[in-house]
Amino acid sequence: MIIAIASHKGGVGKTTTCAALAFLLAKTKPVLLIDMDPQSNATSIFPPEVDGPGLAELLAGEAKLADCVRPSMLPDISILPATSALGAVESDLARRDDAGLPAIMAAIRKAAKAAGGDVVIDTAPSLAPLALAAMATATHVIVPAATNSGFALDGLERTLEACQEVRSIMRRPRIVPMILATLHAARTASCRAILGTLEEQHGAALIPRTIPRGVAVEQAEIMRRPLPDVFPKNPASKAYKSVLDYIISHGGDARGN
Ligand SMILES: Nc1ncnc2c1ncn2[C@@H]1O[C@H](COP(=O)(O)OP(=O)(O)O)[C@@H](O)[C@H]1O
Ligand SMILES: [Mg+2]
Repeated sequence: MIIAIASHKGGVGKTTTCAALAFLLAKTKPVLLIDMDPQSNATSIFPPEVDGPGLAELLAGEAKLADCVRPSMLPDISILPATSALGAVESDLARRDDAGLPAIMAAIRKAAKAAGGDVVIDTAPSLAPLALAAMATATHVIVPAATNSGFALDGLERTLEACQEVRSIMRRPRIVPMILATLHAARTASCRAILGTLEEQHGAALIPRTIPRGVAVEQAEIMRRPLPDVFPKNPASKAYKSVLDYIISHGGDARGN
């Protein structure tokens, strides 16, 4: 399983979701986390045990895969980290005729094969080559949508379209990206209204479990640890566990990678 978490919008819970899913998945088998966001938030939650090259150096052909993927400080989770050069490397790739997509996709596949377990990919809030390649390679694409924002639906449409478009260009099987309602405050009328619109417009794609908004999420972030690691009994941790079970049993690109 290669799970890519992507959205054109920032602040919707991509990194929080990525960290929670990677942590929960690693309870049963080894997980490789690929940090494709130059801001490297996921890397700061799963720091490699030793410093070294990352995805940027791998894509630039400056380092070998075996040196770029390293154990993280958390058990059974290895990381292909984002380093400061990632933004510049992505801009270079974007200038190629093929936008670097085949090269990035090949790197993801090779890393996934070498890791031998599941892969979780965090991406930047963009539809630039790294995020597009992640969506094209993934067996499962998760698009978080924050129900506390009136703009939730705007970024969502563009991300869903980009996913289908890049998969058809790269001749990958079509999949329905799964939408995850995040930062949900069920008691707030505006959140309920946005969730209602999501259900109406994307019923089949919407994961039937929301991630509640809660201060524990921010506390875990300040501690730079995955939410279910620090607060396993928190409602949001439990919701992420149900979401993971749902993802495992639904949808996806059956052909794998
Ligand atoms: N369920 C939640 N409850 C409360 N705060 C949340 C929740 N999910 C995310 N956040 C907070 O929202 C902000 C954006 O989340 P993040 O995962 O970094 O989003 P993205 O990666 O999409 O930019 C962070 O400060 C994070 O702590
Ligand atoms: Mg992020």
